[in-house]
Amino acid sequence: MTDLNQLQADLSNQIAAAPDAATLEAIRVATLGKTGSVSALLKTLGSMSPEVRKLQGPAINALRDQVAAQLLARKSDFEAAELEARLAREQVDLTLPSPQRRKGSVHPTMQTMDEMVSIFAEMGFAVAEGPDIEDDFHNFTALNFPPKHPAREMHDTFFFNPGADGERKLLRTHTSPVQVRAMRRGNTAPPAPWIAAGQEPPIRIIVPGRTYRLDSDATHTPMFHQVEGLVIDKGIHMGHLKWTLETFISRFFETDAVMTRFRPHHFPFTEPSAEMDVGCDRSGGEIRIGTGSDWLEILGCGMVHPNVLRNCGIDPDVYQGFAFGMGVDRLGMLKYGMPDLRDMFASDTRWLAHFGFSAFQAPNPVSGLS
Ligand code: PHE
Repeated sequence: MTDLNQLQADLSNQIAAAPDAATLEAIRVATLGKTGSVSALLKTLGSMSPEVRKLQGPAINALRDQVAAQLLARKSDFEAAELEARLAREQVDLTLPSPQRRKGSVHPTMQTMDEMVSIFAEMGFAVAEGPDIEDDFHNFTALNFPPKHPAREMHDTFFFNPGADGERKLLRTHTSPVQVRAMRRGNTAPPAPWIAAGQEPPIRIIVPGRTYRLDSDATHTPMFHQVEGLVIDKGIHMGHLKWTLETFISRFFETDAVMTRFRPHHFPFTEPSAEMDVGCDRSGGEIRIGTGSDWLEILGCGMVHPNVLRNCGIDPDVYQGFAFGMGVDRLGMLKYGMPDLRDMFASDTRWLAHFGFSAFQAPNPVSGLS
């Protein structure tokens, strides 16, 4: 017994005196390890007489438990000390500026398009889409362009080389071909699921999308964006067209003070046709909407030509409609005060950082404009 007490006292001193975790581990191996001193004592139990074992067994086991507990306690002391040391060593200076992160933004054209879609969605319009690569039929013929119309010529339209069948595809010069896709009876199997299929009147759609023309200056780019509108129903007249556009414009520019003017114009696919101007002020080098005595053309519109309705299988004696098409980029320029249309597509990140919008503010058909 006294031997055991002595051993325990010795081990206890050793453990307390261990200067580091490695020494402590060596003590553990030398006592509780396979060939350790305490393990050896445990092995002697087997050869003892039952009477002796009855006394020695609990004493040796108690010694083992005590040594194990002391080792563990000392080990966690070392671990705590190591953690303290690390905390003192590894400091984080929270006052340092964090590294710059590049922030994306919504392009003004997309923001403007989202705003337009939201406003028309509030007015009950559905969104329809069509392909950027069109054929002559949808872009021109069905829209009542005469065979020799100048817009078909190379100086306006980007044509592809003719295919094996001799057909010359083109980049659509406006979103109006989607009118044809949306109206045409029998157009039930569009080439892709997102392309508008022909529907029965009444039709009330808007068509946001990219358009292409061979043109480049401060107010023209070879690629630009339009939103087309089309309404087909019984008894539709110019009054509906005027109300729709005037309501849209005052909502878009967020003021009731916008003056509009309809000027007679010509489009092959509408009769009568008009261009709509908004009243503006050009003094001081910038264009301001809602004041002034100047006018700025912003869209083309008119009553859908009976020939177009006929080309789409709709009886013009039963149904009438109106259509309009407006330049998204140009309206965005006006609303947000950008001087040159070409900047919109220059991919200058400084420009985008300045004029871009937060993705958290993007309007959508559900949330509406605000
Ligand atoms: N498609 C015409 C253009 O691009 C705009 C327009 C659309 C005019 C619908 C009338 C009706 O200039």
